Amino acid sequence: MVAQQIYVEGEVTISETREVAIPKLRALHDTAAWARGRAAHQLRTILRQSDIFLTAWDGDELVGCARVLTDYAVRALICDVIVDPAYQGQGIGRMLVEAIETHPALRDVETLCLFTTQKHDFYAHLGWEDYAGDGMVLRRWDAISRRQENFAG
Ligand SMILES: CC(C)(COP(=O)(O)OP(=O)(O)OC[C@H]1O[C@@H](n2cnc3c(N)ncnc32)[C@H](O)[C@@H]1OP(=O)(O)O)[C@@H](O)C(=O)NCCC(=O)NCCS
Repeated sequence: MVAQQIYVEGEVTISETREVAIPKLRALHDTAAWARGRAAHQLRTILRQSDIFLTAWDGDELVGCARVLTDYAVRALICDVIVDPAYQGQGIGRMLVEAIETHPALRDVETLCLFTTQKHDFYAHLGWEDYAGDGMVLRRWDAISRRQENFAG
């Protein structure tokens, strides 16, 4: 379920449909600690399998991204909100998150959720509530380590 939509703020546009070159996406992901070292095949799968994938552009320059996994009814998980460090502090992160919050396909979703270790204050500033202590995860450390080793090597 993908809808064409473009948000514009100053020179930066947000797109849901624009084609993304994997090397550019990789360079953007490599700026975020948790996403660093993702292989091209992982990024291609992420692009293909995410329910919503938004990108932010300054002309032809990829400057941000965010994606959503959802059932379109009850839950939506926001992942990988990343703004190029050179473009941070200019409202692009807010544009990406608000584009998701107001996305027509997510209008009836009861709960939007996300994980963050260091950006609680950013999301709190945008009106998100802390949900500390209630989440649980099972991390596949072998897979995470393989990615980190590949990045280091
Ligand atoms: C977190 C991130 C996405 C924010 O994007 P950004 O484009 O720099 O943020 P914006 O300029 O859109 O900021 C929007 C608002 O949040 C505020 N804000 C930004 N970062 C903040 C922070 N760490 N703490 C509190 N407020 C913050 C801004 O002051 C701004 O306020 P205003 O709209 O009232 O003026 C960006 O810093 C980033 O990509 N960081 C690295 C990856 C990351 O950690 N992503 C979060 C994934 S959980």
